Amino acid sequence: MAGAHAEARAIQVALKLGIFELLARGSQGDSGIAARLGTDPRATLLLANAMVALGLLEKHQGDYRLSAAADRYLVKSSPEYLGGMILFDEAIFPYWATLEDSIRSGASARAPDMFQSAPEDTERFIRAMDSLTRARGDAAWVADHLDLAGVRTIADLGGGPGTYLAAILRRHSKIEGAIWDLPATLKVTRRILTEREPGTMARIELVEVDYLKASLPGPVDAVFMSNIVHSEPETDNARLMAKCFDAIAPGGLIALKDHVMNRDLTDPRAGAIFSLYLLLTTRGRDYSFDEIAGWLGAAGFVDTKMHRLPNPPFSSSLVTARRP
Ligand SMILES: C[S@@+](CC[C@H](N)C(=O)[O-])C[C@H]1O[C@@H](n2cnc3c(N)ncnc32)[C@H](O)[C@@H]1O
Repeated sequence: MAGAHAEARAIQVALKLGIFELLARGSQGDSGIAARLGTDPRATLLLANAMVALGLLEKHQGDYRLSAAADRYLVKSSPEYLGGMILFDEAIFPYWATLEDSIRSGASARAPDMFQSAPEDTERFIRAMDSLTRARGDAAWVADHLDLAGVRTIADLGGGPGTYLAAILRRHSKIEGAIWDLPATLKVTRRILTEREPGTMARIELVEVDYLKASLPGPVDAVFMSNIVHSEPETDNARLMAKCFDAIAPGGLIALKDHVMNRDLTDPRAGAIFSLYLLLTTRGRDYSFDEIAGWLGAAGFVDTKMHRLPNPPFSSSLVTARRP
């Protein structure tokens, strides 16, 4: 466990350099890989061999080719491409090196701007969310399991790439949707949906909203949000639930997907580790069911329930509640 950063970093660098994309076009020896990537031959041999040891490449008589796992998750044209998330992890790697400072001071390692300050940061962040969700299958699970009986309009608050909303609308052909998000994010959302979901896009309205500063549009029959409360402090989350209450029609649904922790904030394991990432880059952390249910109840929601997603591959849960 204590050395796992070495493996993670090797995969991130191999992907960033384009080894997997290159080998998707055909097998190569180490000197061919180095020549095409413009890298040092001896160093490239070491990196390619490490990828073989990790099961991401195969080596036959000096030639490297993709393993089945790399073909499925590390090549851009694959529907389960995880590269967006890996490139994001690569970009934020330097912040992990300053974890000690954040633990001592309590301060984040970068301005907690939700990656809105530079267009390339926003693009990388939003593509990361999209790629993780598609590779792991979260959006398909939500579309199949979230009970949307009676819902005609749904908003995805902080919907980012639109991966969840597109999956929901594909599953429910009568529902109209909106993504409520920040302007820099919505530029990326529009690009992703135009590339991949031109049919579904006609049923999605993109609405610029800053959920911290303004009230929410509405009314809608349902508000869905994934990975939102974990980026915000407790008081802002309590206020956000009250804004959602006002934006949801009577009888409507709120559904919140996130790592939902036990009372001790130690389980699920992925959530406890992820809270350190949130310390480095946001103002939030992962919260317990009791904390989330407390904000919902104070806002006026009733019938609060938790639904665990199957683990593995998932580590998050869905919390649902109703406006009376
Ligand atoms: C961690 S991403 C989650 C994206 C998506 N819901 C998912 O789970 O894949 C957080 C999203 O919230 C949006 N967001 C952050 N702060 C916001 C704010 N103050 N108002 C509206 N949207 C915000 C970000 O732009 C981003 O799309």
